[in-house]
Amino acid sequence: MQSAVLLLAAAGAASAQLITTSEPPLSDIKAAAATAVPSSPVSNVQGLAFKNFYQIWLENIDYGNASDDSNQKYLASKGIELTNFWAVAHPSEPNYASTAAGDQFAMDNDDFIQIPANVSTVVDLLDTKGISWGEYQESLPYAGFQGFNYSNQQTYANDYVRKHNPLILFDNVAGNASRASQIKNFTSLWSDIENNSLPQWAFITPNMTNDAHDTNISFASVWERNFIEKLENYTDFWNESLILLTFDETGDYPIQNKVFSVLLGGAIPSNLVGTVDNTFYTHYSTLATVQANWGLPSLGRWDCGANIFQIVSNKTGYTNYQVDTTNLYLNSSFIGPLSTNTYSNYSSVWPVPATGNESCSAGHGILDSVKATWGALAPTYNYTSPFPFDTASHKDVNVPFSRNGTTWISGVNNTALTTKTSNSTGSTTGTSTSSSAVPSHTGAASVNSASGALALAAGAVLAFAL
Ligand SMILES: *[C@@H]1O[C@H](CO)[C@@H](O)[C@H](O)[C@H]1NC(C)=O
Ligand SMILES: *[C@@H]1O[C@H](CO)[C@@H](O)[C@H](O)[C@H]1NC(C)=O
Ligand SMILES: *[C@@H]1O[C@H](CO)[C@@H](O)[C@H](O)[C@H]1NC(C)=O
Ligand SMILES: *[C@@H]1O[C@H](CO)[C@@H](O)[C@H](O)[C@H]1NC(C)=O
Ligand SMILES: *[C@@H]1O[C@H](CO)[C@@H](O)[C@H](O)[C@H]1NC(C)=O
Ligand SMILES: *[C@@H]1O[C@H](CO)[C@@H](O)[C@H](O)[C@H]1NC(C)=O
Ligand SMILES: *[C@@H]1O[C@H](CO)[C@@H](O)[C@H](O)[C@H]1NC(C)=O
Ligand SMILES: *[C@@H]1O[C@H](CO)[C@@H](O)[C@H](O)[C@H]1NC(C)=O
Ligand SMILES: *[C@@H]1O[C@H](CO)[C@@H](O)[C@H](O)[C@H]1NC(C)=O
Ligand SMILES: *[C@@H]1O[C@H](CO)[C@@H](O)[C@H](O)[C@H]1NC(C)=O
Ligand SMILES: *[C@@H]1O[C@H](CO)[C@@H](O)[C@H](O)[C@H]1NC(C)=O
Ligand SMILES: *[C@@H]1O[C@H](CO)[C@@H](O)[C@H](O)[C@H]1NC(C)=O
Repeated sequence: MQSAVLLLAAAGAASAQLITTSEPPLSDIKAAAATAVPSSPVSNVQGLAFKNFYQIWLENIDYGNASDDSNQKYLASKGIELTNFWAVAHPSEPNYASTAAGDQFAMDNDDFIQIPANVSTVVDLLDTKGISWGEYQESLPYAGFQGFNYSNQQTYANDYVRKHNPLILFDNVAGNASRASQIKNFTSLWSDIENNSLPQWAFITPNMTNDAHDTNISFASVWERNFIEKLENYTDFWNESLILLTFDETGDYPIQNKVFSVLLGGAIPSNLVGTVDNTFYTHYSTLATVQANWGLPSLGRWDCGANIFQIVSNKTGYTNYQVDTTNLYLNSSFIGPLSTNTYSNYSSVWPVPATGNESCSAGHGILDSVKATWGALAPTYNYTSPFPFDTASHKDVNVPFSRNGTTWISGVNNTALTTKTSNSTGSTTGTSTSSSAVPSHTGAASVNSASGALALAAGAVLAFAL
């Protein structure tokens, strides 16, 4: 396919941004890199349990494969091992989106997706208190790069990929030049450490070799342990930080999508080092945890009812849900606008977040701009549940994975969710065993297949051929 290049002259941009649905030509990358300036705002906002939150994601490893690895075991021994932490979909990209926005919008692919600017992210939450944030994407060719990927220029092996970059998927971030300039590479990680200009929230993505995607758990765990041991020497990075090591998803799709995870960092009290936490968490828990730590509002999506890491929830009086995970898979997407499922899962309607007086798990209500944008519409789901759960039908709206050849088939046989209980409210929901109807596919999915070049003026909405 022809490389499609969009030049976005964003407001205040020092340079045009390349927005491409494929790997841009190297000459274009070099030209854009020449003027791209990374930015590193700083702040010092105290939180209940930590001052900084950093997460590092590896790729595609089943729980047991990771928990058996000697370096993963070693890392777990230095912090808190999370034995009940769940990814929320397959393949990669919906998981990365989920940690930024509290939903995966039925994404069932790794395509060039642009999520409209009226969908808010963690960045909007952090901005309410001026908490600095950034991303470090290894091998990103320059800060704010918006191409589909960037290969190793010697070997042409996979290196940086957009599907592993959570914030770049959101027009609300990528379409704002000042925000995009905070999406940086590892060169900037080390220079931000040297310059005492680390952000308080950061998402860190190793390249396709180091993150296990194109290698394996042994290789990636050696890399991760070395990386952590290097970072541990920098007090600004380490001392008051909570650091989450996790995986985007399991490598095998039909199984329960639980991923081995570890909390590290100087924010962990010494008596908890080497302990195990069996609380049910998901990628949405990262949002609920930062919200509770800094007193931030919720996005009103699946972050609203998500469990909060105990290191924070213990300081808030919030009691996490206990979830019977017997029939839980969280290994497929559900109905929504980013599904490419031609059978069942597509709906053109963007899910509407909660906008009422829900306190949400962190107890700080819902972001004002989310209420202003979406408040006239009824929420799509009961977002006070700890994960996608349809209380009307009492079913897990994430369905067991199945596919025929290369075709995804989901939504055909919703499995009943077993009883879940909350000891904060004492409420108990029942079980159901009936299957849901197959929703009909009503149109083309919002997946970019643009070709050709367009020049968009500042502030223009990026409208791809869908
Ligand atoms: C990078 O993009 C090129 C097309 O420009 C494609 O052939 C290649 O598969 C992509 N690599 C990855 C890892 O997405
Ligand atoms: C990282 O980004 C910086 C600043 O945008 C750029 O100058 C540098 O070449 C990039 N480094 C790598 C290894 O791509
Ligand atoms: C990934 O990053 C490492 C440095 O951490 C580098 O040596 C390696 O070449 C990169 N992998 C690819 C395929 O570019
Ligand atoms: C762009 O991002 C900055 C920093 O987060 C924010 O202050 C500004 O309001 C944003 N601009 C728009 C047009 O959203
Ligand atoms: C960390 O610092 C210690 C003490 O200075 C040093 O021995 C060790 O080599 C350093 N580790 C790394 C990975 O840089
Ligand atoms: C996990 O380990 C098993 C047994 O070694 C292996 O067959 C499988 O491919 C591994 N799966 C993943 C996703 O790492
Ligand atoms: C939270 O409190 C529980 C119950 O008191 C305790 O067992 C657990 O160790 C605490 N966890 C953390 C991370 O503080
Ligand atoms: C959000 O943006 C999408 C895409 O432009 C649009 O379809 C939807 O109606 C908008 N929703 C609201 C509540 O503004
Ligand atoms: C929403 O979910 C919560 C938690 O599962 C439950 O307590 C509440 O009753 C549900 N509300 C509705 C309207 O279904
Ligand atoms: C998958 O399902 C489609 C639609 O029913 C059918 O056309 C196709 O032959 C099936 N493929 C396989 C490998 O079963
Ligand atoms: C639906 O799932 C149940 C439980 O796994 C299974 O027994 C049943 O055969 C499935 N039905 C269909 C139509 O696939
Ligand atoms: C509430 O749930 C937590 C977390 O699972 C558990 O440690 C605690 O014992 C429970 N409390 C009661 C009163 O059941």
